[in-house]
Amino acid sequence: MSDLFSKFDPLIETREQLLATGLTDPFGLVMEEVISPTVAICNGKRTILLGTYNYMGMTFDPDVVAAGKKALDEFGSGTTGSRVLNGTYSGHKACEEALKDFYGTDHAMVFSTGYQANLGIISTIAGKEDYIVLDIDSHASIYDGCAMGNANIVPFRHNDLDALEKRLARIPEGAGKLVVLEGVYSMLGDIAPLDKMVPLAKKYGAMVLVDEAHSMGFIGDLGRGVAEAQGVLDQVDFVIGTFSKSVGTVGGFCVSNHPKFEIMRLVCRPYVFTASLPPSVVATAATSIRKLMGAKDKRDHLWENSQTLHHGLKALGFQLGTDKPQSAIIAVIMPDLEKGAAMWEALLHEGLYVNLARPPATPAGMTLLRCSLCAEHSSAQVGEILGMFERAGRATGCIS
Ligand SMILES: Cc1ncc(COP(=O)(O)O)c(C=O)c1O
Repeated sequence: MSDLFSKFDPLIETREQLLATGLTDPFGLVMEEVISPTVAICNGKRTILLGTYNYMGMTFDPDVVAAGKKALDEFGSGTTGSRVLNGTYSGHKACEEALKDFYGTDHAMVFSTGYQANLGIISTIAGKEDYIVLDIDSHASIYDGCAMGNANIVPFRHNDLDALEKRLARIPEGAGKLVVLEGVYSMLGDIAPLDKMVPLAKKYGAMVLVDEAHSMGFIGDLGRGVAEAQGVLDQVDFVIGTFSKSVGTVGGFCVSNHPKFEIMRLVCRPYVFTASLPPSVVATAATSIRKLMGAKDKRDHLWENSQTLHHGLKALGFQLGTDKPQSAIIAVIMPDLEKGAAMWEALLHEGLYVNLARPPATPAGMTLLRCSLCAEHSSAQVGEILGMFERAGRATGCIS
């Protein structure tokens, strides 16, 4: 019998070698207690969280928590059904109304995760014969949506306008075209030049889908994302997002003004063939989304945090993913996996959790320590974080 697991041997070996050095498993951390959006107990120790996607700190918002408890009491723990059968409750419709109000769109469709939103929308609207032009650094859910739909996949160099135009110009006349972009790219925390890319896609007659997973709630005056901030939201055909980041729960969505959008509810397999979100989840999501509309103070404070951390880390001598802070993600580039893992563990011992990211998730084979800030991090906590980076960086030789 051939062992189907043999393809994983190189990864198993790398992992075993790393753990044999006595290192804590960076991919096996347990949050034993969660005290607030920014503090948890890990390995029995009070730890500042700088590696969650809880950008707007909504997970402990009293109104959000109360809405979840109420829905749990009134509607039970789960729907046990698909949205197109018994799984649409009034809470799912209310959540879609909140999304339509948040984005100012005619349609909103809630999925069980953001991963499924990309999988479903991309695979359903672009099939065989169609072309999907996408940034090469796109999220796995975008690639998986492309693979599932069997369209022709045309990747272009990350954030490169000329490369995008060359690919668009080569697509046969009359073919269906979808350009897929992200607002914020989550590994390096850089943003896309949507103000140039979206009009370019339109010039070539393409439809445009923008995944705003990492910008919703934070970027743009109304928190609608990078397309809003750069003034091109009205030219975007589909915005994909998630509830697992700024919204602070779980779930995904697509909003659109396309007049035929509602047909997606019948033809999109990752929407139809899975159970809908529990009533408590959609209740927390709807409450959170409505509160995010008026969260300007939080947005302003998160920008302050992002600036302070970026400038501080740069001044300490760390190499960062962007020259200037562009989002709530600050990526610290490590020389290799060994150093990255050592630094990750030294930070954990200091009482700081960040994400260790490595290929295939990262671009260009990079090892990154990804820091994601939260609007609930106080200025004092950001100062504390910088002190921890300084000590851990010196101890591991990452800075001199
Ligand atoms: C750009 C992007 N899109 C989609 C997703 C999937 O979101 P979810 O966690 O809701 O499945 C992620 C998750 O990290 C993401 O980074």
